Amino acid sequence: MAVRIDGKAISAKVREEVAGEVAALKDQGIQPGLAVVIVGDDAASRIYVNNKKKACEAVGIYSEEYALPGDTTQEELLALIDELNRKPEINGILVQSPLPKGLDEAAVVEKIDPKKDVDAFHAYNVGKIMQGQYTFLPCTPAGVIELIRSTGVDICGKQCVVIGRSDIVGKPMAMLLLHENGTVTICHSRTENLGEICQGADILVSAVGKAHFVRGSMVKPGAVVIDVGMNRDENGKLCGDVEFSEAEPRAGFITPVPGGVGPMTIAMLMKNTVAAAKLQHEVRS
Ligand code: GUN
Repeated sequence: MAVRIDGKAISAKVREEVAGEVAALKDQGIQPGLAVVIVGDDAASRIYVNNKKKACEAVGIYSEEYALPGDTTQEELLALIDELNRKPEINGILVQSPLPKGLDEAAVVEKIDPKKDVDAFHAYNVGKIMQGQYTFLPCTPAGVIELIRSTGVDICGKQCVVIGRSDIVGKPMAMLLLHENGTVTICHSRTENLGEICQGADILVSAVGKAHFVRGSMVKPGAVVIDVGMNRDENGKLCGDVEFSEAEPRAGFITPVPGGVGPMTIAMLMKNTVAAAKLQHEVRS
């Protein structure tokens, strides 16, 4: 039976460290600040944004929320980003994804000052991640690396399989595992023999967004299984991509949903906001 990886406890530790760093910055007269922009009324996004605001309060980060109506134009949104780029009390800018149809998300991301891009979505930061020298790590993949580290399993030399190739999770996840010297395979909707490839994974990360996608038979005995999925099952219950009841008896370590990757993403966002404040105030760590 797998050991459950406790994302809540691990993220609490990260948040504690961040709170300590915020306190030290405040002693130097620096107050880290994050602006969160949400457009429209997507229910899931609303929950995520509320959680991000609460996390800021808990660690002492100043936050501003900009809740814009669903009919906001591209020009209005870009003008807001421009204003936030210039606002000194704001160190990090996060535009909650997805944006309503009709808005060009890529153009919005490119408008964010790379020094304030705490999601690490801007092409400049994506390039830095490719090169392995970064200020901001993308929050979810960085959180996953922390969860894997917590198991004591060394990523170096291991077969790592990432299911999903999104810009937010799959691609940067693969890159971070590669930087840790993992041997990385990226699988996606066109992958042939997916089950077979997964069976060879010492570390399996699923970021597909489909309930019941990873079956127990796909899990190598003793593997580290990380479930990035946030789905609703047929009964409306929150669940990941991994069929937990089948995978748990086979895996060595496994993340639950909820309580696995989710809390880590927010903790890493807090960490990035502090890193952004340090960068803008030229504080060395
Ligand atoms: N929507 C889902 N995950 C994320 C994230 O990490 N950042 C942003 N900005 N939007 C998201």
